[in-house]
Amino acid sequence: MKNKNDIDLQISKLEEKYKNSGQDLGAYLDGLLYSKYLTYWDYIHLDTLLSLQIPRTHFPDEEIFIMYHQITELYFKLILHEQKQLVDDKTQDVDFFIEKARRINSYFKVLISSFSVMINGMEREQFLQYRMALLPASGFQSAQYRMIELYSTPMKNLVHYTEREQFSSKDEIEDLYEHIYWKKGATDLKTGEKTLTLKQFEYRYTPRLIRIAKQVENNTIYAKYQNLSLKDQENETLKKALKDLDSNANINWPLMHMGSAYKYLSKEKKTYDSTGGTNWKDYLPPSFQKVIFFPELYTKDELNDWGKQWIDHIFNPEKSL
Ligand code: HEM
Repeated sequence: MKNKNDIDLQISKLEEKYKNSGQDLGAYLDGLLYSKYLTYWDYIHLDTLLSLQIPRTHFPDEEIFIMYHQITELYFKLILHEQKQLVDDKTQDVDFFIEKARRINSYFKVLISSFSVMINGMEREQFLQYRMALLPASGFQSAQYRMIELYSTPMKNLVHYTEREQFSSKDEIEDLYEHIYWKKGATDLKTGEKTLTLKQFEYRYTPRLIRIAKQVENNTIYAKYQNLSLKDQENETLKKALKDLDSNANINWPLMHMGSAYKYLSKEKKTYDSTGGTNWKDYLPPSFQKVIFFPELYTKDELNDWGKQWIDHIFNPEKSL
């Protein structure tokens, strides 16, 4: 407990603070007198949080599906929280860079290791039934997943890899955006018709994603790395942290996720259609998309083999990582 002198000192500091902003300390002290003590449940809005799991069917495992998506979105938010600080940082301090990348990797690792909640934690029969009530919604529509990509690397590196070399980072953001890999994945290549899942997503998020891409143009995490001094760019701890980030975001998480698609949606010689309507066996494998945030950090062979070393994974997803 503070003694009387300490309290007097605090009151005079408070008087000073409130006087400086033209406020009456006495009125604020009344407020303090009448206000309730804070509780844990109010602080973290627990009742609201626990009221957000609202299944659309009566299958009990649907709640697991909802909650695990929500948990993942919260981790995506943690990742973005670190990415934004990195992008805003003006100091270009290499230790700060390493620490932010380390945190991002630790969040990804939680997501990668916990994906068993999806792969082994739901009854397939329930999944195949309740998912029909979720059409045409798909994790494909996760805007935070796309934002993590946009903060990481120039939009040119997100262009579908068959077209990537036709573009440069100097091209207009809007032009690059039209050729981004995930749009191609959700478009019927013969007719040019976009899936409803993609149309909904574009209508809701295109302006926001374009705004973010413009805001971080020449200032993505990759650009920040390239603007470090040559000595800092050679920092082995930083290089490793960024390569780990690339593998976590673009190989390890996608493969764990793809393992769940194989578990639930493949059936001997045929596959079930996904809710988002992509040709998912061609769309989900990292080696088919070759999304690489920091390409300069790899040799030609490493770039060519991106994701290939993990082919076994689909047959034994949890053991291969
Ligand atoms: C049983 C579990 C899951 C299955 C079977 C599954 C299946 C799929 C499929 C087939 C796609 C391709 C798009 C489509 O055609 O719908 C997809 C995309 C996606 N899903 Fe899932 N998913 C599962 C769980 C999750 C979870 C827990 C998340 C967490 C947010 C998630 C996030 C995503 C994202 C971000 C994409 C887009 C990936 C990309 O564009 O590369 N999925 N999912």
